[in-house]
Amino acid sequence: GLSTYFVILWQWIPNTNFETASNWDKGRVPCARDVVHFEKDKPGWLYLPLNGEFLLATGAAFTAFDAFSVPFPGGTVRFADAEHRSWFDPTLWRDVLPSGELRPGGPIFSVHEERVPCHHDDVIFQPETSFRVNTDSSQPVIHLRSISVMGQVRRGGGETGSAPSQHSPERGGSAFHGNGTLQVTGTGCPDKSGCACGNTLDGPRICAALLRAPGRQCPEPACQSPLQPLGHCCGVCGATINLEFTPDFDLQKYQDKLIEELLSQPKYAGVQMAMSKVHRAQTFLDIVSRGAAPLIQIVLIDDRAGAQAGTAAEQLAADIMQDVAQHGEALGISSGKMEVATGSTASGQVGSHPASRITAGTVMGLLFSLLFLGGILFLYRKGKLR
Ligand SMILES: *[C@@H]1O[C@H](CO)[C@@H](O)[C@H](O)[C@H]1NC(C)=O
Repeated sequence: GLSTYFVILWQWIPNTNFETASNWDKGRVPCARDVVHFEKDKPGWLYLPLNGEFLLATGAAFTAFDAFSVPFPGGTVRFADAEHRSWFDPTLWRDVLPSGELRPGGPIFSVHEERVPCHHDDVIFQPETSFRVNTDSSQPVIHLRSISVMGQVRRGGGETGSAPSQHSPERGGSAFHGNGTLQVTGTGCPDKSGCACGNTLDGPRICAALLRAPGRQCPEPACQSPLQPLGHCCGVCGATINLEFTPDFDLQKYQDKLIEELLSQPKYAGVQMAMSKVHRAQTFLDIVSRGAAPLIQIVLIDDRAGAQAGTAAEQLAADIMQDVAQHGEALGISSGKMEVATGSTASGQVGSHPASRITAGTVMGLLFSLLFLGGILFLYRKGKLR
């Protein structure tokens, strides 16, 4: 998620539990008379997968009847296809508090690449559930801070393998499959200026998963030239700000400050903000060759419609830029660049501000020096100074 100083906990939503109604094509759990289909084209009334597994809870049992002892079979119920549930599908994760409750979003949202676990995040698979995840990735290794499966937390030690041992293929489990290997590092983001999420290489995979389902296309933008924030799958109306920062910058503090001083004002109701450290470079080669200049990206969107679309976000962006100009140095921000797309602008307007405190300071310093010199000259002329 916000890939910031504090750690985000991600919970995998789907499971492959027998009792989960949505795992069955009829939307209900099979009853005694149903013919249960797990995989295609296997004979018998209960179709068992060739390479699957059943995890039975303590005390649970399976009863299969002789087909002819049952007067007539009920319907045929098929188990949902869990094979293609991708690690990089943002619709299959939720961002939770350690208590398991959904993290309240408030006026904060995340760009799409940060809606699946980032490299410094924690991941939990609910205890008492079975699941299956396709880890196909453009990166050979998917880094995480920790992972919890079946109530057991793994916090790392540099171990490479397809996640916790109860579910590794060697133990007969097959919860994780695909060419990406999960690696638990045990380290959160060590940098108060934030850490990039690390999912850039899988961006296209994330967008494909997000927009695959019918009716999940990007909304038709209400502005002519929508902005394309880094890490986001859809164009947006509103404003983006790219900040260059110094070692003093604290991402979490700055985000809190903006919420408290600006976003919480009534005139900005309906405005949402995403803030994260991103790398301007978009391909792996860029990152290697140019050392990828990190910057802080702020995305501002609003709920205004028609010609008003994006105007509240634009106003907020202008306020942020003014604040950067006045207090940038103290905040650890060396410059800011704003882009705007609203329902009424023909094309994206660009505004740029160096944190002009330095300039202002220099000018004031120069003025004082001149006054001082003038004063000395004045006293000298009057003969009071020799
Ligand atoms: C993993 O497989 C996918 C195809 O599903 C491919 O696009 C990707 O490049 C592969 N990743 C690696 C690290 O080999």
